[in-house]
Amino acid sequence: MGEIAVNDGSIMQEDKAMSAGRDITPGMDPLEPHRWKHGTVVAGVPWKNPVGTASGTFNLDACQDYYDVADMGAIGTKGVSPVPWEGNPSPRTAETPAGMVNSVGLQNPGVDRYLVDELPRLKALGATVVTNVAGHSDDDYAQVVERLADSPADMLEINVSCPNVSHGGMSVGTDPEALNRLIHRLRTMTDKPMVVKLSPNVTDIVAVAQASVEGGADALSLINTLVGMRIDIDTGEPILAQETGGVSGPCVFPIALGFVWRVRKALPDIPIIGIGGIDSGEKALEFLYAGANAVEVGAAALLDPVAPVRVARELDDLLDSRPELADLLSKGKTWK
Ligand SMILES: Cc1cc2nc3c(=O)[nH]c(=O)nc-3n(C[C@H](O)[C@H](O)[C@H](O)COP(=O)(O)O)c2cc1C
Repeated sequence: MGEIAVNDGSIMQEDKAMSAGRDITPGMDPLEPHRWKHGTVVAGVPWKNPVGTASGTFNLDACQDYYDVADMGAIGTKGVSPVPWEGNPSPRTAETPAGMVNSVGLQNPGVDRYLVDELPRLKALGATVVTNVAGHSDDDYAQVVERLADSPADMLEINVSCPNVSHGGMSVGTDPEALNRLIHRLRTMTDKPMVVKLSPNVTDIVAVAQASVEGGADALSLINTLVGMRIDIDTGEPILAQETGGVSGPCVFPIALGFVWRVRKALPDIPIIGIGGIDSGEKALEFLYAGANAVEVGAAALLDPVAPVRVARELDDLLDSRPELADLLSKGKTWK
């Protein structure tokens, strides 16, 4: 692919090195029609397969040449805010073994633009859309949810990892009480299935999961990125302009899986979307055995734009020999 495309369609020149020389999955024609055998249901919304794209790692203009977006279980879009946001200064991505650290920030064109551009285009292409909501204050989230309430988005995903001024600059996703208050407020504003996307940067994931469900979440998605950094040993300074960023990719897979497992044990009935380090059907399957209803592919798509479809096809075949799991998923139930 040679370029990484994120956010609002901008190609980040500085990030080219991330994918230089890497090609799309060899031997697979992602545009070849595929008849999906195993679907899932997340909070009442049917997905034609259990694999979606993770927020911030899908870009419509970049991806539609590679695969049919309607082929995905769902398309998770970049977080949208009430007004356009520019994102953080460069450099904002760094490689790390089996992963990456990013401080892209919540660069996006704003909810008004999203409503007249990306969302209608995705719906016209037949995609099931999970719209990710970003905010720097509780009022920001409320404004975006209000604007999306009558939109054609299939599900809303509330990204509670953003720094929040209503919460002293800390992410609301780390404080069960503040999180519960926010979700409760948003719940009164929309009947759309509302997914709360949990931050892993907490000591007790079950407490924030419970607070979300008690606030009215219809589903949970986890995990968002883990806080981390890289340092340039020639200068002794952080590589990222923001100093720290969010770690994602295969290196976070076992951590994410452990979080899903713990939340599923504590909350047997809440639909869960498992995210973190998925780059194969086998890893997606592990999340389903840990109790997820569906999964999303993130960083893997920045190296190989076709990764989400490849993972979905690999999983579809793996589920052939697991009829009990496939049957549970098709009924909106889970293994654990
Ligand atoms: C460049 C980049 C941008 C992201 N932007 C968002 C975002 O806007 N909203 C959000 O909820 N998560 C965002 N994420 C987090 C991913 O959706 C996902 O939760 C995380 O990267 C873990 O999955 P992965 O290991 O498959 O990448 C972003 C991740 C990356 C790498």
